[in-house]
Amino acid sequence: MIQVGDKHFEEYLTADQIQSCVKELARQIDNDFASKDLLILGILNGAFLFVADLVKYMTIDPEISFLKFASYEGTTSTGKVHDLIGVNEDLAGKHVLIVEDIVDSGTTLAHIMNILKSKNATSISTATLFFKPEAYQQKIALQYIGKEIPNLFVVGYGMDYQGKGRNLTELYQLKP
Ligand code: IMP
Ligand code: MG
Repeated sequence: MIQVGDKHFEEYLTADQIQSCVKELARQIDNDFASKDLLILGILNGAFLFVADLVKYMTIDPEISFLKFASYEGTTSTGKVHDLIGVNEDLAGKHVLIVEDIVDSGTTLAHIMNILKSKNATSISTATLFFKPEAYQQKIALQYIGKEIPNLFVVGYGMDYQGKGRNLTELYQLKP
């Protein structure tokens, strides 16, 4: 058990288990985008470790950039999304892969899709390391899912509780 801020968390996935998920996603993305112009758009802050590991396991040579929004306060999604860093790249003619650490309600993803849809990308797909199917409230399909997890708050591997816990190499679940 560990403590982050005022809350206690239990280990849910080891570092090795997470890396296996990331490797498998890299393999699928390699296969699907071989010889295509791929732009990876990582979503900050949470996806910073996932993007870094994912692109190291990939054998294709994508462009890599980041977008930044904020929607979470404490342990529940606020439903409001603010843009902090927007799209600077020209997406015309490119295959865009949105890379998220975790998709919860899907509010952030819906907002990103809204922003990207008018930018003439050849295709837009989404990769998320973790997905909470019970919390998801959107109809947007997710092409690459590392692992479905229960609807419990998690920290580690990029994900924080009140700004802390992002550098943990394992994933921890909030103790009910
Ligand atoms: P959504 O908009 O509700 O899908 O939430 C998306 C964002 O909230 C993710 O990209 C994460 O950064 C953050 N988030 C969602 N669930 C968790 C969690 O369990 N722990 C930490 N951050 C989370
Ligand atoms: Mg995020």
